[in-house]
Formats: sequence, structure tokens, C-alpha cells
Amino acid sequence: AKITYIEHNGTEHSIEVATGLTVMEGAVRNMVPGIDADCGGACACATCHVFVDQAWFDKTGSREAMEDSMLDFADGVTETSRLSCQIKVTEELDGLIVRMPKHQG
Ligand code: FES
Repeated sequence: AKITYIEHNGTEHSIEVATGLTVMEGAVRNMVPGIDADCGGACACATCHVFVDQAWFDKTGSREAMEDSMLDFADGVTETSRLSCQIKVTEELDGLIVRMPKHQG
């Protein structure tokens, strides 16, 4: 699926990410700045925080309890905040847009 990652400074990266990877892995493997993912996808660091584009939010599924509590450690959390390591890429998400927060990367 094609995913567009938008850095806080507005730089866009459109990347083809394979089904089964997470949105976080798609960024890290392609050197997209703005997603640190310190814990490597274990839902334990909150440095893979992204803002999911409003139009896409429902398609990315819902937050698990653990993700919700980790997000308490992220800055500037909004209603469409997610931890990108908890979003699995599917063909349904082709066209997904996520924005990275200021403090990451
Ligand atoms: Fe650590 Fe997502 S990579 S919470």
C-alpha cells in the first residue's frame, strides 16, 4: 500500500509499504525521519507517534488499551493520534496519510 508520511516541516515521503509490515516499519526501513521507534515496535516507547489523517482514522482500526496508555507519554496527542507500530499495513490502507509530530526524529 502506498503510504504518505509527512514530516513536521511539511516534507512528504510517499512510500510503497508491503502488507503485513507496520506503518512504523515502513518508515524506519525507508529512512523516513520523524519516527524513532526506540522500542522496535513493542508498544513500549511512544516515539513512533503519528497523527493519522482524519479521513483515514477509522480504517486504521482502534487503539488497544496498552497503546492508549503509552500515548500518555507522547506530546501533543490528539484524537487521531496512534502509535505507528500498532497499525498493520493492509491493501485497504492504500493512500494512507500520517503526519509526524514535532519532537520526533
Ligand atoms: Fe515503540 Fe511503537 S515503536 S511504541
